[in-house]
Amino acid sequence: MTFELRSAPQAPADLDVDTLVLPLFEDEPVAQQPWADLDTRLDGLLGRVLEWGETRGKAFDLHFAHTSGRLAARRVALLGLGKRAEFDSEPGRRAAGALVRKLRNGGTRSAGLVLPGKLAARQAAQCVAEGALLGLFDADQYRGTREETRFERVLVACTPEQQAEVEAGLAQGCVLGEAANFARLLVNEPGNILTPRQLADRARALATDDLLTVEVLGPQELAALGMGALLSVARGSEEPAQLIVLRYHGAESGPYLGFVGKGITFDTGGISIKPAERMHLMKDDMSGAAAVLGACKALSKLRPACRVLSVIPACENMPSGRAARPGDVVRAMSGKTIEIINTDAEGRLVLADALTYAQRLGAAHLVDLATLTGGVVVTLGNEASAVLGRPQSWVERVKQAAEEAGERLWQLPLWREYRELIKSDIADIKNSGGRPAQTITGAMFLADFVEEKTAWAHLDIAAMAWDEKSRPYRAAGPTGVGVHTLVALAQRWAEEPPTAAG
Ligand code: BES
Ligand code: MN
Ligand code: ZN
Repeated sequence: MTFELRSAPQAPADLDVDTLVLPLFEDEPVAQQPWADLDTRLDGLLGRVLEWGETRGKAFDLHFAHTSGRLAARRVALLGLGKRAEFDSEPGRRAAGALVRKLRNGGTRSAGLVLPGKLAARQAAQCVAEGALLGLFDADQYRGTREETRFERVLVACTPEQQAEVEAGLAQGCVLGEAANFARLLVNEPGNILTPRQLADRARALATDDLLTVEVLGPQELAALGMGALLSVARGSEEPAQLIVLRYHGAESGPYLGFVGKGITFDTGGISIKPAERMHLMKDDMSGAAAVLGACKALSKLRPACRVLSVIPACENMPSGRAARPGDVVRAMSGKTIEIINTDAEGRLVLADALTYAQRLGAAHLVDLATLTGGVVVTLGNEASAVLGRPQSWVERVKQAAEEAGERLWQLPLWREYRELIKSDIADIKNSGGRPAQTITGAMFLADFVEEKTAWAHLDIAAMAWDEKSRPYRAAGPTGVGVHTLVALAQRWAEEPPTAAG
């Protein structure tokens, strides 16, 4: 898919495209539309369409009318955007996604777009490119009959004054959309193909000569570093654990922003094995890692002036004669001992060592992303990721980035009392607190591996990484959650590095 812009002297009426798409806010008459003058060229055709109630502009509605030679475009299509008051970036991305998903099945090769005007030109253009790319993605890399689409060009109409902004917005939107789709492709890969070593290879392939470097540590190096928590999870598998470290150097100096992503390429639960029914979905247990890799890919293209250190602990959680047992005690890199109550609470074990390592390498501000608990679905449903962390100023920064990205985060508390639930009788901490407040005890466990002086936010994305339903704007399957939030965070960090307090 390519995105181009067209500004005056070429008017929307002169765009030589199959379909000219015009935005329509719900229940607003033609006179209020930015394309009202076009309808004069169409002898009031669109006015009659609205009068007859053929479309009212509800979100994602697409109504076609033929132009019979009165415009350069063969057809016009009214794209419903819903209520003007509720329209914002995320509805904009979704509208673009729904649009391309409908157009590609209808024989359109090229589409012209008139921007709705409610958003700034740059923001609107970014949403168009990002939303369209997200909408076109299908998790079909293993299907013999892949949907062939001939839809390949989008021309965005704008004024000469908007040109630079639209250009910049389209470029940023393309990078974000492609980065999220890269993450989605990784998440869709089955466990037999995307092994920890394969994940490391995909990370290596992202390296650029100058800006992004990738280094991978294997089991011997991890043992030498004392990463007993990570290695205890990998024990049951034939596949060796990999610790993937990416460094983004968009600036010569300055503090490191740290990303950590859970990279369990398949989670059987280990000896505390999961029920068979939904186990196949546990190939998505590396969605945090995929978000970090997607963000790194985007950063290497957008080149914000900051430094980002990313750490991905990757391994499989398998049962075997060598696997860790419930009741085992292991020593983490930080020196703390952990009693493994439940081998299915493996994410926090691998993250404990990754968080320690990221701090050891000098990151004083961390964000980790993990499909950590099924419990977050109980708490928030499939509508938001949970965020927990400290200090509050850092959590606020992460929430702000998520807001900009159109990704919902809802904060849960880290009250001291919850720490009681993961007190071990024989070790410094245990890895499961049982049924109560699972998302919180998961985060409380991680907090034990974050130094007081480190700012840290944990995102539990277990409810958001995989969508079992297909949406008008997005195919079912991996969502790419987290990529945009991390990129937004890094871009804000570049503009305004945090103070010592966070
Ligand atoms: N990867 C799972 C969490 C998960 C469950 C993600 C369902 C997506 C959908 C994680 O490793 C896990 O198994 N967590 C346990 C924690 C418990 C043992 C404290 C869980 O959620 O049951
Ligand atoms: Mn598990
Ligand atoms: Zn897991």
